[in-house]
Amino acid sequence: MSDAITISVEHIQNSKLSQVDFNHLGFGKYFSDHMLEADYEDGEWKNVRIRPYQTLQFLPALCVLHYAQTIFEGLKAHKDEEGNVFIFRPHENFKRFNRSAERLAMPQVPEELFIGCMKQLVNVDKDYIPSGYDESLYIRPFMFATEETLGVKEAKTYKFLIITGPVGSYFSAPARIYVEEKYTRAAPGGTGFTKAGANYAMSLASSAEARKQGYDQVLWMDAFEHKYVQEVGAMNIFFIIGDKIVTPDLTDGTILGGITRLSLLQLFKDAGYEVEERRISIDELIEAYKAGQLNEVFGCGTAATISHVQELKYKDFVMTFDPEAMSISGNMKKYLLDYKENKLGDKYEWMEKVD
Ligand code: PLP
Ligand code: COI
Repeated sequence: MSDAITISVEHIQNSKLSQVDFNHLGFGKYFSDHMLEADYEDGEWKNVRIRPYQTLQFLPALCVLHYAQTIFEGLKAHKDEEGNVFIFRPHENFKRFNRSAERLAMPQVPEELFIGCMKQLVNVDKDYIPSGYDESLYIRPFMFATEETLGVKEAKTYKFLIITGPVGSYFSAPARIYVEEKYTRAAPGGTGFTKAGANYAMSLASSAEARKQGYDQVLWMDAFEHKYVQEVGAMNIFFIIGDKIVTPDLTDGTILGGITRLSLLQLFKDAGYEVEERRISIDELIEAYKAGQLNEVFGCGTAATISHVQELKYKDFVMTFDPEAMSISGNMKKYLLDYKENKLGDKYEWMEKVD
């Protein structure tokens, strides 16, 4: 497919916009009127179309249903006070999507399809973009294998889709997290650095167990020693120890390189904080907590933005925190949200304008 994509647009007859309760958006509950769809066949992307959000039909042998060859991304679009629409750092998601695709033996998606068509889709459904605090249009690009076969082999055909929907905060309250000791999420050489659907499927038993015990999420540990922290279900994790901002490094490929994480590292550095990306053991965190030095703990991600941790449990040891007192990350959350709403100018050129 050449750079200039021919894209057909079929508009919905009756918009569902009036059915959205903008006072109770939640996350992943509402979907906008249209979706983008493209097919990969004979080594190229074809049939690029925007059409009403609707059912897809498949036969039971569809290979993704059996062997999980599927990946996704998550981005957000915001409106500024003049009604201009911006998507936050889509080029980073584009690069990460293709890294995931490579790891799962799936075809690369061209930039014009991922970003160019995404902008068109967001423009078509821009009335769905909410304007409240921490509200946005969530954008979900994904790709899956569509061949009908039970042979375990990379597929020859795929679908790429983008759906969108208005969302509020992912978490309604500060998180209560326990350190997972039984299951692991990722080991070197695996798929931890990707957004493969399978990474999330294998995390579900663990998060269901966490909920049974009154927790929201688990903090994953390294697969070998169960000693070093990795990340949380849908977020990267940060700690403020003394006056240093510390987060696990990405070097062994087990942690998703979050775009919020990347942005925060830059913003914290530029705000004059000392920032460290390195291995962090649970023992170090416990010692810092006992010494009164573990000042703030928070997760970050596109869906979650910045989510404070109010409780972190390891074996029988419970660390509690006052999210109201987490002023460094609290101020940074506001700064990042203001940045995404185009209130601060776009110093880093992170905002992709949709027009
Ligand atoms: N880690 C995991 C496992 C995630 O699912 C996410 C969410 O996308 C993140 C981290 C944060 O990544 P990002 O900031 O790019 O959304
Ligand atoms: C995101 O933050 O965009 C994610 O993909 C997290 C998702 C699993 C809810």
